Amino acid sequence: MTGSIKSSVVLFVFLAILTLALSSSPGKSAEIKLSGFEKWEVHVVNGLGGGKSLFVHCKSKDDDLGTHDLAIGAEVNWSFDTNYFGTTLFWCYLRTNKEHASFDVFWVEKEHHWLAERCMVRNCIWIAKDDGVYLKNNPQHLDERIHNWEQAI
Ligand SMILES: *[C@@H]1O[C@H](CO)[C@@H](O)[C@H](O)[C@H]1NC(C)=O
Repeated sequence: MTGSIKSSVVLFVFLAILTLALSSSPGKSAEIKLSGFEKWEVHVVNGLGGGKSLFVHCKSKDDDLGTHDLAIGAEVNWSFDTNYFGTTLFWCYLRTNKEHASFDVFWVEKEHHWLAERCMVRNCIWIAKDDGVYLKNNPQHLDERIHNWEQAI
């Protein structure tokens, strides 16, 4: 066979399998859509007491969102589209006057919906408080403590 016939046979077989896969299991095609291109928003809020400022530095593999010194009640927020491969990940470093914490603020969930449930709908609100870092559980209207502070010397 010549190269071009060979590659069109390969293409045909590929398309046949793809068509079969998509038509035989509608659940699968819905799953494929889930991992791509959704708009999300993340917030990091200074909910500390006693007038303490909060240092925030958030990043992804491609973006450095810069450093911020947040006054009480102030926040950093950004929105983004998840990538097609489901590898979108953002993490932050937070620091108070004597403690710090470093953690993921957004990741794409493939099996569980722990984050998605709390961020309902696609709006994740992290709040730094005196006794730890909380994530707002939007549907239940409550803040849940997720991370403890570590001493920063
Ligand atoms: C995002 O943060 C800015 C300032 O940091 C604030 O003015 C704005 O209201 C925030 N946006 C949302 C949607 O909360």
